[in-house]
Amino acid sequence: MTTTLVPRHALVTGATGGIGRGICLALIEQARKDGLAIRITAAASQPGERLAKLLAELRTAGADVHGVTGDLTDPVQCVELVQQALDAGGDLTALVCVAGASGPGRLANLPLAQWDLTFNLNVRPVWLLAQAARASLMRTRGSITAVASMSGLHPHPGYGAYSPAKAALIMLCRQLAQEWGPDGIRTNTVCPGMIRTPLTEAVYQDPATLERRIGLVPLGRIGNPDDIGQAVAYLTGTGASYVNGLDLVVDGGVADHMLSMIPGRPGKASVQDD
Ligand SMILES: NC(=O)c1ccc[n+]([C@@H]2O[C@H](COP(=O)([O-])OP(=O)(O)OC[C@H]3O[C@@H](n4cnc5c(N)ncnc54)[C@H](OP(=O)(O)O)[C@@H]3O)[C@@H](O)[C@H]2O)c1
Repeated sequence: MTTTLVPRHALVTGATGGIGRGICLALIEQARKDGLAIRITAAASQPGERLAKLLAELRTAGADVHGVTGDLTDPVQCVELVQQALDAGGDLTALVCVAGASGPGRLANLPLAQWDLTFNLNVRPVWLLAQAARASLMRTRGSITAVASMSGLHPHPGYGAYSPAKAALIMLCRQLAQEWGPDGIRTNTVCPGMIRTPLTEAVYQDPATLERRIGLVPLGRIGNPDDIGQAVAYLTGTGASYVNGLDLVVDGGVADHMLSMIPGRPGKASVQDD
Protein backbone atom coordinates (compact mmCIF):
# COMPACT_ATOMS: atom_id res chain seq x y z
CA MET A 1 0.00 0.00 0.00
CA THR A 2 1.37 3.45 -0.82
CA THR A 3 0.12 6.87 0.20
CA THR A 4 2.61 8.85 -1.85
CA LEU A 5 1.08 10.89 -4.62
CA VAL A 6 2.22 14.18 -6.02
CA PRO A 7 0.85 16.57 -5.02
CA ARG A 8 -0.55 15.70 -1.63
CA HIS A 9 -3.93 17.22 -0.92
CA ALA A 10 -5.26 17.33 2.63
CA LEU A 11 -8.68 18.55 3.70
CA VAL A 12 -8.34 19.74 7.30
CA THR A 13 -11.46 20.63 9.26
CA GLY A 14 -11.13 22.91 12.27
CA ALA A 15 -8.08 24.36 10.56
CA THR A 16 -8.56 27.77 12.12
CA GLY A 17 -8.35 26.33 15.63
CA GLY A 18 -5.15 25.99 17.61
CA ILE A 19 -4.60 22.29 16.89
CA GLY A 20 -5.85 22.54 13.31
CA ARG A 21 -3.35 25.25 12.48
CA GLY A 22 -0.56 23.21 14.07
CA ILE A 23 -1.53 20.21 11.98
CA CYS A 24 -1.58 22.23 8.75
CA LEU A 25 1.91 23.58 9.45
CA ALA A 26 3.24 20.12 10.34
CA LEU A 27 1.80 18.63 7.13
CA ILE A 28 3.56 21.33 5.12
CA GLU A 29 6.82 20.68 6.96
CA GLN A 30 6.52 16.93 6.37
CA ALA A 31 5.83 17.42 2.66
CA ARG A 32 8.90 19.63 2.40
CA LYS A 33 11.04 16.97 4.10
CA ASP A 34 9.61 14.38 1.70
CA GLY A 35 10.30 16.62 -1.28
CA LEU A 36 6.64 16.73 -2.27
CA ALA A 37 4.23 19.54 -3.04
CA ILE A 38 1.18 19.84 -0.83
CA ARG A 39 -2.25 21.37 -1.20
CA ILE A 40 -4.21 22.12 1.91
CA THR A 41 -7.91 22.78 1.86
CA ALA A 42 -8.51 24.49 5.19
CA ALA A 43 -12.07 24.28 6.50
CA ALA A 44 -13.60 26.66 9.01
CA SER A 45 -17.14 27.12 10.22
CA GLN A 46 -17.42 30.51 8.59
CA PRO A 47 -15.49 32.92 6.38
CA GLY A 48 -13.64 35.77 8.00
CA GLU A 49 -10.36 37.20 9.09
CA ARG A 50 -9.17 34.09 10.98
CA LEU A 51 -9.47 31.91 7.91
CA ALA A 52 -7.94 34.56 5.63
CA LYS A 53 -5.00 34.97 8.02
CA LEU A 54 -4.46 31.22 8.23
CA LEU A 55 -4.51 30.81 4.44
CA ALA A 56 -1.91 33.56 4.08
CA GLU A 57 0.29 31.89 6.70
CA LEU A 58 0.03 28.45 5.08
CA ARG A 59 0.77 29.93 1.66
CA THR A 60 3.86 31.60 3.05
CA ALA A 61 4.89 28.27 4.59
CA GLY A 62 4.88 26.74 1.12
CA ALA A 63 1.49 25.15 0.51
CA ASP A 64 -1.01 25.63 -2.25
CA VAL A 65 -4.07 26.55 -0.19
CA HIS A 66 -7.83 26.85 -0.48
CA GLY A 67 -10.33 27.88 2.13
CA VAL A 68 -13.76 26.29 2.47
CA THR A 69 -16.47 26.97 4.99
CA GLY A 70 -19.44 25.14 6.39
CA ASP A 71 -21.25 24.19 9.57
CA LEU A 72 -20.29 20.58 10.20
CA THR A 73 -23.32 19.98 12.39
CA ASP A 74 -25.35 20.22 9.17
CA PRO A 75 -25.10 16.91 7.26
CA VAL A 76 -25.68 18.60 3.90
CA GLN A 77 -22.84 21.05 4.50
CA CYS A 78 -20.48 18.17 5.36
CA VAL A 79 -20.99 16.72 1.91
CA GLU A 80 -20.73 20.13 0.25
CA LEU A 81 -17.47 20.83 2.09
CA VAL A 82 -15.82 17.76 0.61
CA GLN A 83 -17.15 18.60 -2.84
CA GLN A 84 -15.74 22.12 -2.55
CA ALA A 85 -12.36 20.66 -1.61
CA LEU A 86 -12.40 18.27 -4.57
CA ASP A 87 -13.48 21.01 -6.97
CA ALA A 88 -10.78 23.35 -5.74
CA GLY A 89 -7.87 20.98 -5.34
CA GLY A 90 -8.61 17.62 -6.97
CA ASP A 91 -8.45 14.21 -5.31
CA LEU A 92 -7.70 14.08 -1.60
CA THR A 93 -4.78 12.13 -0.21
CA ALA A 94 -5.78 12.88 3.39
CA LEU A 95 -8.91 13.79 5.28
CA VAL A 96 -7.99 15.25 8.66
CA CYS A 97 -10.94 15.86 10.98
CA VAL A 98 -10.03 18.26 13.77
CA ALA A 99 -13.17 20.31 14.35
CA GLY A 100 -14.78 19.61 17.68
CA ALA A 101 -15.64 21.10 21.02
CA SER A 102 -16.44 20.09 24.55
CA GLY A 103 -19.62 21.10 26.34
CA PRO A 104 -19.40 21.06 30.11
CA GLY A 105 -22.37 19.68 32.02
CA ARG A 106 -23.50 16.91 34.36
CA LEU A 107 -25.24 13.88 32.89
CA ALA A 108 -27.91 14.07 35.62
CA ASN A 109 -29.43 17.11 33.99
CA LEU A 110 -27.69 17.52 30.65
CA PRO A 111 -30.04 19.09 28.10
CA LEU A 112 -30.89 16.77 25.23
CA ALA A 113 -29.91 19.48 22.76
CA GLN A 114 -26.40 19.62 24.24
CA TRP A 115 -25.97 15.86 24.00
CA ASP A 116 -27.04 15.97 20.35
CA LEU A 117 -24.83 18.95 19.53
CA THR A 118 -21.77 17.33 21.09
CA PHE A 119 -22.24 14.16 19.04
CA ASN A 120 -23.26 16.06 15.92
CA LEU A 121 -20.06 18.09 16.01
CA ASN A 122 -17.49 15.59 17.30
CA VAL A 123 -18.66 12.31 15.73
CA ARG A 124 -21.24 12.46 12.95
CA PRO A 125 -19.31 14.82 10.64
CA VAL A 126 -16.31 12.50 10.57
CA TRP A 127 -18.52 9.70 9.23
CA LEU A 128 -20.24 11.99 6.71
CA LEU A 129 -17.02 13.63 5.53
CA ALA A 130 -15.42 10.21 5.20
CA GLN A 131 -18.39 8.93 3.16
CA ALA A 132 -18.18 11.93 0.84
CA ALA A 133 -14.41 11.60 0.46
CA ARG A 134 -14.33 7.80 0.14
CA ALA A 135 -14.23 7.50 -3.66
CA SER A 136 -11.48 10.08 -3.88
CA LEU A 137 -9.44 8.49 -1.08
CA MET A 138 -9.82 5.11 -2.79
CA ARG A 139 -8.29 6.58 -5.95
CA THR A 140 -5.29 7.95 -4.04
CA ARG A 141 -5.08 5.15 -1.45
CA GLY A 142 -5.29 7.96 1.05
CA SER A 143 -5.98 8.22 4.75
CA ILE A 144 -8.41 9.54 7.31
CA THR A 145 -7.17 10.90 10.63
CA ALA A 146 -9.49 12.25 13.31
CA VAL A 147 -8.58 14.17 16.44
CA ALA A 148 -10.30 12.58 19.44
CA SER A 149 -9.19 13.23 23.03
CA MET A 150 -7.84 11.53 26.13
CA SER A 151 -11.36 12.23 27.39
CA GLY A 152 -12.52 9.57 24.93
CA LEU A 153 -10.41 6.99 26.75
CA HIS A 154 -11.06 8.09 30.31
CA PRO A 155 -14.30 9.41 31.80
CA HIS A 156 -14.25 13.10 32.49
CA PRO A 157 -16.85 13.98 35.13
CA GLY A 158 -18.56 17.28 34.40
CA TYR A 159 -17.81 17.16 30.69
CA GLY A 160 -21.29 16.13 29.65
CA ALA A 161 -21.39 14.16 26.41
CA TYR A 162 -17.80 14.96 25.44
CA SER A 163 -16.18 11.76 26.73
CA PRO A 164 -18.91 9.53 25.26
CA ALA A 165 -18.65 11.40 21.95
CA LYS A 166 -14.87 11.14 21.68
CA ALA A 167 -15.08 7.45 22.65
CA ALA A 168 -17.61 6.97 19.85
CA LEU A 169 -15.28 8.78 17.46
CA ILE A 170 -12.41 6.43 18.28
CA MET A 171 -14.62 3.39 17.64
CA LEU A 172 -16.06 4.93 14.47
CA CYS A 173 -12.53 5.25 13.12
CA ARG A 174 -11.56 1.73 14.17
CA GLN A 175 -14.61 0.45 12.33
CA LEU A 176 -13.79 2.54 9.25
CA ALA A 177 -10.31 1.04 9.37
CA GLN A 178 -11.83 -2.43 9.20
CA GLU A 179 -14.43 -1.64 6.54
CA TRP A 180 -12.31 0.54 4.27
CA GLY A 181 -8.86 -0.95 4.78
CA PRO A 182 -9.59 -3.32 1.88
CA ASP A 183 -10.25 -0.22 -0.25
CA GLY A 184 -6.74 1.03 0.51
CA ILE A 185 -7.91 3.72 2.94
CA ARG A 186 -6.21 3.85 6.33
CA THR A 187 -8.13 5.38 9.25
CA ASN A 188 -6.60 6.36 12.58
CA THR A 189 -7.17 8.71 15.49
CA VAL A 190 -4.97 10.90 17.64
CA CYS A 191 -5.85 11.48 21.27
CA PRO A 192 -4.36 14.73 22.53
CA GLY A 193 -3.82 15.29 26.23
CA MET A 194 -3.59 18.80 27.61
CA ILE A 195 -2.70 21.04 24.70
CA ARG A 196 -2.18 24.76 24.96
CA THR A 197 -4.34 26.45 22.33
CA PRO A 198 -6.38 29.65 22.19
CA LEU A 199 -9.34 27.49 23.31
CA THR A 200 -7.60 26.37 26.51
CA GLU A 201 -5.32 29.35 27.06
CA ALA A 202 -7.49 30.99 29.73
CA VAL A 203 -6.87 28.19 32.20
CA TYR A 204 -3.10 28.49 31.80
CA GLN A 205 -3.15 32.16 32.70
CA ASP A 206 -3.41 31.13 36.34
CA PRO A 207 0.19 30.22 37.36
CA ALA A 208 -0.97 27.87 40.14
CA THR A 209 -3.22 25.91 37.76
CA LEU A 210 -0.46 25.78 35.17
CA GLU A 211 2.01 24.43 37.72
CA ARG A 212 -0.42 21.81 39.01
CA ARG A 213 -1.23 20.67 35.49
CA ILE A 214 2.44 20.42 34.54
CA GLY A 215 2.98 18.38 37.71
CA LEU A 216 0.62 15.73 36.37
CA VAL A 217 2.55 15.18 33.14
CA PRO A 218 5.47 12.74 33.30
CA LEU A 219 7.21 14.66 30.52
CA GLY A 220 6.91 17.83 32.59
CA ARG A 221 5.22 20.16 30.15
CA ILE A 222 1.87 20.99 28.60
CA GLY A 223 1.56 19.93 24.97
CA ASN A 224 1.46 22.29 22.04
CA PRO A 225 -0.30 22.09 18.66
CA ASP A 226 2.88 20.99 16.92
CA ASP A 227 2.97 17.86 19.11
CA ILE A 228 -0.36 16.87 17.59
CA GLY A 229 0.69 18.10 14.16
CA GLN A 230 3.73 15.79 14.16
CA ALA A 231 1.53 12.82 15.09
CA VAL A 232 -0.91 13.56 12.28
CA ALA A 233 1.93 14.12 9.82
CA TYR A 234 3.21 10.66 10.74
CA LEU A 235 -0.21 9.00 10.42
CA THR A 236 -0.91 10.60 7.04
CA GLY A 237 2.58 9.89 5.71
CA THR A 238 4.27 6.96 4.04
CA GLY A 239 5.96 5.97 7.32
CA ALA A 240 2.54 4.85 8.56
CA SER A 241 1.53 2.97 5.43
CA TYR A 242 0.81 -0.19 7.48
CA VAL A 243 -0.88 1.63 10.40
CA ASN A 244 -4.65 1.26 10.30
CA GLY A 245 -7.12 1.51 13.20
CA LEU A 246 -4.60 2.97 15.64
CA ASP A 247 -5.50 5.43 18.37
CA LEU A 248 -2.28 7.34 18.95
CA VAL A 249 -2.23 8.92 22.41
CA VAL A 250 -0.18 12.12 22.45
CA ASP A 251 -0.38 13.33 26.02
CA GLY A 252 3.08 13.23 27.56
CA GLY A 253 1.92 10.25 29.61
CA VAL A 254 -0.63 12.20 31.66
CA ALA A 255 -3.57 9.86 31.19
CA ASP A 256 -1.58 6.89 32.45
CA HIS A 257 -0.30 8.55 35.61
CA MET A 258 -3.32 7.70 37.76
CA LEU A 259 -1.84 4.74 39.64
CA SER A 260 1.10 6.89 40.70
CA MET A 261 -1.37 8.99 42.70
CA ILE A 262 -2.49 6.15 44.99
CA PRO A 263 -1.50 7.04 48.55
CA GLY A 264 0.96 4.66 50.19
CA ARG A 265 2.62 3.58 46.99
CA PRO A 266 5.88 4.87 45.54
CA GLY A 267 5.23 8.05 43.60
CA LYS A 268 6.50 8.89 40.16
CA ALA A 269 10.22 8.63 39.47
CA SER A 270 12.18 11.78 38.91
CA VAL A 271 15.65 12.66 37.81
CA GLN A 272 16.45 13.38 41.48
CA ASP A 273 15.87 9.69 42.29
CA ASP A 274 18.85 8.61 40.18
N1 LIG B 1 -6.94 21.81 23.19
C1 LIG B 1 -6.90 20.69 23.86
O1 LIG B 1 -6.34 20.62 24.98
C2 LIG B 1 -7.58 19.45 23.31
C3 LIG B 1 -7.40 18.25 24.00
C4 LIG B 1 -7.99 17.09 23.49
C5 LIG B 1 -8.72 17.13 22.31
N2 LIG B 1 -8.89 18.30 21.66
C6 LIG B 1 -9.66 18.27 20.41
O2 LIG B 1 -8.89 18.86 19.38
C7 LIG B 1 -9.74 19.50 18.44
C8 LIG B 1 -9.30 20.95 18.24
O3 LIG B 1 -9.21 21.60 19.48
P1 LIG B 1 -8.63 23.09 19.61
O4 LIG B 1 -8.09 23.22 20.97
O5 LIG B 1 -7.77 23.41 18.45
O6 LIG B 1 -10.01 23.91 19.55
P2 LIG B 1 -10.38 25.29 18.84
O7 LIG B 1 -9.18 26.19 18.79
O8 LIG B 1 -11.62 25.79 19.49
O9 LIG B 1 -10.74 24.83 17.36
C9 LIG B 1 -11.96 24.20 17.07
C10 LIG B 1 -12.15 24.22 15.56
O10 LIG B 1 -13.39 23.57 15.28
C11 LIG B 1 -14.10 24.36 14.35
N3 LIG B 1 -15.54 24.22 14.55
C12 LIG B 1 -16.23 24.35 15.72
N4 LIG B 1 -17.53 24.19 15.50
C13 LIG B 1 -17.69 23.98 14.15
C14 LIG B 1 -18.80 23.74 13.31
N5 LIG B 1 -20.06 23.70 13.78
N6 LIG B 1 -18.58 23.58 11.98
C15 LIG B 1 -17.32 23.62 11.48
N7 LIG B 1 -16.22 23.81 12.24
C16 LIG B 1 -16.42 24.00 13.55
C17 LIG B 1 -13.69 25.78 14.62
O11 LIG B 1 -13.89 26.55 13.43
P3 LIG B 1 -14.20 28.14 13.51
O12 LIG B 1 -13.07 28.74 14.31
O13 LIG B 1 -14.22 28.56 12.10
O14 LIG B 1 -15.54 28.27 14.21
C18 LIG B 1 -12.22 25.62 14.99
O15 LIG B 1 -11.43 25.68 13.83
C19 LIG B 1 -11.16 19.34 18.97
O16 LIG B 1 -11.76 18.23 18.34
C20 LIG B 1 -10.95 19.06 20.45
O17 LIG B 1 -12.01 18.31 21.00
C21 LIG B 1 -8.33 19.46 22.12
